[in-house]
Amino acid sequence: MFRIAVLISGTGSNLQSIIEAVESGILKCEIGAVISDNPNAGGLKLAEGKGIETFFFSGKTTSDKILIAVGENTDLIVCAGFLSILKGKLLEEFHNRIINIHPALIPSFCGKGMYGLHVHQAVVDYGVKKSGCTVHFVESGVDTGPVVLQKTVDVLYTDTAEDLQKRVLKEEHIAIVEAVKLISENRIAVSGRKVLIK
Ligand code: GAR
Repeated sequence: MFRIAVLISGTGSNLQSIIEAVESGILKCEIGAVISDNPNAGGLKLAEGKGIETFFFSGKTTSDKILIAVGENTDLIVCAGFLSILKGKLLEEFHNRIINIHPALIPSFCGKGMYGLHVHQAVVDYGVKKSGCTVHFVESGVDTGPVVLQKTVDVLYTDTAEDLQKRVLKEEHIAIVEAVKLISENRIAVSGRKVLIK
């Protein structure tokens, strides 16, 4: 069975949609571990309630600890609202096998310091008409890896950052499941920066 580990820092609503997709059979995957850099992340409780093994790691050695925790049987690492930057041997061992969901249309409104509500505030302040979410492979740069898929939403004149966050989050829940499904079914090929969906 295709085995994933999910990395979270907060509520875990993206984790929730992955769990639901596994339970309903949409995803033929096993969630081997949920790992957080925040001991109070809501997603940890959610995972524990489902009997999924959980880990909390913080500090400079987080990536090394994640590598040990996921072991050799993990096929894909899914960053679902994980705020620490991954680095080192983990990125080498899991080259093109770590995905991240970002709440904007990369390469806009991304990079260092662009997470959560900050992203949506920047989008609203700039006045763009479209935003959305991006699932991309993780490499050493922040939000720079090859793009797997994107979903768009309209940005309304009256939107607050919170309004936009809610609208984008709905699309994230669809996008993250779609991306895991495509990868688990071996329907993704990466060529340089470009990702082919077969
Ligand atoms: C999501 O909106 C995700 O895109 C964002 O954190 C939120 C986590 O929500 N990630 C980033 O901003 C990373 N740059 P969740 O815990 O409810 O899934």
